[in-house]
Amino acid sequence: MAMEIVVTRRDAVVGIGFNRPQKKNALTWEMYEELDRSLRAAEADDSVRAIVFHGTADTFTAGNDLEDFLTRPPQGEDSPVFRFLRAVTGAAKPLVAVATGPAVGIGTTLLLHCEIVIAGDNARFALPFVQLGLVPEFASSYLLPLVAGYQRAASLLLRGEAFGPQEAREAGFVTRIVPAAEAMETGWEEARRLAAMPVESVRLTKALLKRAHAAAIEAQLSVEGGHFRALLAQPAARAALAAFLEKRKPRV
Ligand code: COA
Repeated sequence: MAMEIVVTRRDAVVGIGFNRPQKKNALTWEMYEELDRSLRAAEADDSVRAIVFHGTADTFTAGNDLEDFLTRPPQGEDSPVFRFLRAVTGAAKPLVAVATGPAVGIGTTLLLHCEIVIAGDNARFALPFVQLGLVPEFASSYLLPLVAGYQRAASLLLRGEAFGPQEAREAGFVTRIVPAAEAMETGWEEARRLAAMPVESVRLTKALLKRAHAAAIEAQLSVEGGHFRALLAQPAARAALAAFLEKRKPRV
């Protein structure tokens, strides 16, 4: 079986790629375990100076695997998904993301934690938590109002409708929009430029940028997680997840 998380290395940059194209790169328990492991390994390796998250050519990720949500939901903060979330919020090295095609759920909320986000002109973002009977995760209920403003964040999170790269840029979490075919190379190039900067200055500047909100982000992560896990067991979420898997519900 092909590796579903692909780790590549170009000089001082590590790429962490979602690679489950037959399921739109939807993320399973095993993939979160691998993401957590790969990110922590890149953080621990002094020769790595920047990290790029990416998907396959036409898909970033359709978010958490919805079958997993139904059949083996995360149980607590020790679950693989939660460990990965904490690895991202605790990352000291600069994070670049390349979003092409669908970037749903965590595919959008991950971007709120990155220093640079390159969106392909084919990117489609969505935060369909409420539609699924859930609540936002990954501190997005804290970070999105911060970057996008309260009403825009409320609209994106409560309506859950898909939106394009221009709207994501206006919402404040896309750095550049480029033709989809160029997105991957642009992301690597952005990471390479960050990796070429004085390492200590980059590290301290990222820490300073994050400092004011770090405690609030960790707290929101926990509160959201508690609600999220409780709602996953409720009939509304179970019905919405089952409808998607039985193809009764329109895709975002
Ligand atoms: N979890 C599990 N399987 C998923 C998935 C997910 N999040 N997203 C897509 N898939 C699967 C589909 O079930 C389908 O599987 P099948 O071929 O075995 O039937 C396959 O991936 C292709 O998906 P499909 O919906 O046919 O592709 P599309 O191009 O028409 O639409 C999306 C792509 C991403 C817009 C659509 O799949 C979607 O809305 N996915 C759900 C996103 C979501 O709600 N994520 C959770 C957020 S919390």
